[in-house]
Amino acid sequence: MENLRIPGPTPLPNEVLQALSRQMINHRGAEFEQILGDVTDNLKQLFQTQSDVFLLTGSGTGGLEAVIVNTLSPGDKVLSVSIGVFGERFATIAQQFGAEVIPLRFEWGKAADADAVRQALQAEPKIKAVLVTHNETSTGVTNDLASISSVIKEFDKLLLVDAISSLGSINLPVDDWHLDVAVTGSQKGWMAPPGMAMVSVSQEAWQAHSKAKMPRFYWDFTQARSYLSERRQTAWTPAISIVFALSVSLEMMLKEGLPNIIARHARVGQAARDGVKSLGLSLFAEESHASNVVTAINSSDGLDVKKMLKILREEHRIILAGGQQRLGGKIFRIGHLGWVTEEDIETVISALRVVLPQAGFRK
Ligand SMILES: Cc1ncc(COP(=O)(O)O)c(C=O)c1O
Repeated sequence: MENLRIPGPTPLPNEVLQALSRQMINHRGAEFEQILGDVTDNLKQLFQTQSDVFLLTGSGTGGLEAVIVNTLSPGDKVLSVSIGVFGERFATIAQQFGAEVIPLRFEWGKAADADAVRQALQAEPKIKAVLVTHNETSTGVTNDLASISSVIKEFDKLLLVDAISSLGSINLPVDDWHLDVAVTGSQKGWMAPPGMAMVSVSQEAWQAHSKAKMPRFYWDFTQARSYLSERRQTAWTPAISIVFALSVSLEMMLKEGLPNIIARHARVGQAARDGVKSLGLSLFAEESHASNVVTAINSSDGLDVKKMLKILREEHRIILAGGQQRLGGKIFRIGHLGWVTEEDIETVISALRVVLPQAGFRK
């Protein structure tokens, strides 16, 4: 088996693999209704929310589009707080659907600054919503969302959060931090395959939804809500196998307990950071905001990242991620979310110790 250490998809536990081999059932039948009801209740616990939570068949990006088209109208002013590739993607979706996006960009590798968010909101009172990425997977940075949220709520704006790679792994109390919509993806910390986005929708988000005029059909939250509340069904045929997988993985997560899961990711994240530093490498992310689900590492001192990834893959069966867009060749990333322990990280660090000199790295 390959040792898949990218920031999603993640390896699946055996119990989840077995769930994936189940025969299909009627998605409009009693058995599926029971499973969907349980999965939704379990997700609410792990989102730490009393609000509505929906399962939408589609990848995380589909979930981001759902967030935008369900809460905004063309011409709405939106503040985009962006610290990397995925922050830019969220903004692009809003722009494509006609929002007037006001960008607030921070240097890649750094976290967003809450005071700068305050200044941006002061400068433009007509802003309706703020887009924030909780964990920027492309740079390995986790934003201080509690602080950013309290600023956004001082101004009473809608807070729309890409929590795709953080929810279920890094603490994110959706209700306590007043997230209006939070979206995550099944292939991240949830120990399930790619293919479903999960979203929470606050009361304020529902109010915005009732006035939102962006075109939507497949992603319409009104449809999702009426099918779930009236029949415990999804509006359209769901990815049934992924719901089977989630029904098992969420039970495993609840058995471990959310505080324990969060603590395990913190330990694993620390092990990854300590490990790469012990090899003489440096972190791309500022350490005070380094992510516990993905570690981004600078390529330096002669290191050929492409060659290193190839040797790791071919000779050690370890798969790590490169850098995205302008970070290509400049960084590489170790994913450590979902089904992962400190021993898994030790295996990666030991292999790196052998491979780095083979790929040109000189301390
Ligand atoms: C923070 C973040 N946002 C958005 C996405 C996009 O999700 P998907 O690739 O499932 O469309 C990802 C996936 O890596 C992500 O990590």
